[in-house]
Amino acid sequence: MPKNEPTWNLPDGLFDRLVSLRRDIHRHPELSFEEHRTSARVASELQDIGLSPIRDVAGTGVIADIEGKEGGPTVVLRADLDALPIEEDTGLPYASEVPGVMHACAHDGHTATVLGAGALLLRDPPQGKVRLLFQPAEERGNGAKVVCDEGHLDGVDAIFGIHVDPFQPTGIIQVQEGPVAASTRSFRITLTGKGGHAARPHQGVDAVVAGARLVDALQGIVAREISPAQPAVVTVGRFSAGTRHNVLAGKAEMEGTIRCFDREVEASIREAIVRIAEAVSRAHRATAEVGFGEGCPAVINDRRMTHIASQAAATVVGSDRVIGFNEPNMGGEDFSFYLDHAPGCYVRLGAGVTDTNIVPAHSARFVWDERTMAVGARYLEAVARAAITELR
Ligand code: NI
Repeated sequence: MPKNEPTWNLPDGLFDRLVSLRRDIHRHPELSFEEHRTSARVASELQDIGLSPIRDVAGTGVIADIEGKEGGPTVVLRADLDALPIEEDTGLPYASEVPGVMHACAHDGHTATVLGAGALLLRDPPQGKVRLLFQPAEERGNGAKVVCDEGHLDGVDAIFGIHVDPFQPTGIIQVQEGPVAASTRSFRITLTGKGGHAARPHQGVDAVVAGARLVDALQGIVAREISPAQPAVVTVGRFSAGTRHNVLAGKAEMEGTIRCFDREVEASIREAIVRIAEAVSRAHRATAEVGFGEGCPAVINDRRMTHIASQAAATVVGSDRVIGFNEPNMGGEDFSFYLDHAPGCYVRLGAGVTDTNIVPAHSARFVWDERTMAVGARYLEAVARAAITELR
């Protein structure tokens, strides 16, 4: 290893323990709010390292507190437990044994990493409380909300989260103040026309043509109504209409998602979707009904916590390996719900195994470098200690 390569050695076989935990979870992935085996496994690991886990948090989550010697601030380190409905195609020796379900977003790794941070902190507990939080259902975008609704963020002074990133090499930590993950809001439009014979369109109201024009018209929202300086996305991901080649479709249904960083921008996009859906439908003698899903706010990293995170990251990987985010991430992350309750910082951990042909998360061939768990555990240990010192 070249001299300037950082090392993140973990003590006493801890890295091997994290690898075997991660691989066991990887083999047995579970979907959102169904993480029964995973949470049982995490709880038993927590007991093994000397903690008293609380089960059934927000359904299938787990929490364990490391109580410092004196009273002091409470800092949360957050992991997510759930997998995705994807058929794994990595060929890894520890690939998923559950058909159609895969840890394709490295939540198996996040879980092992937070456990590792807990083990490191226990060697010399800081003068405050560190709560290890293993939440369910990040992929559904609402596990964190249930955790908050149950009061597990009450009295918390700061929260820190991580995510693996295959597009950066292992040892890079991306830290940035302000917006780092977009808000998400789903929408559904049902367009009603009048079915009939395909050969006599004038006797019906064709929902396919009206729907196609609507999809096209929606593209004008971001292009013409939102400031070019504000990142925003309106995507129609599903469009379904019709039954047969010679039958005029009486109904079209579409579903999509809105992504942005600003609550006001989101409100104006929602208003525009309703306005345009109604107007385009009316223009084609059809009617439209628009509904919106629950959604998840944007992740906005707190200035002070970002400063603490960035310094902690530098102690682990060196300041030249602490970098910003390349561009705003339009993906969603339910970590945002926690930030309504406590200031925090969400970082990305480089975990690339190759420089070329990088396979992104949520893909059937997603792989990442397990050494990232050592970097992450060291980082989370450092940030928890620094935040407690800073907040006391
Ligand atoms: Ni994820």
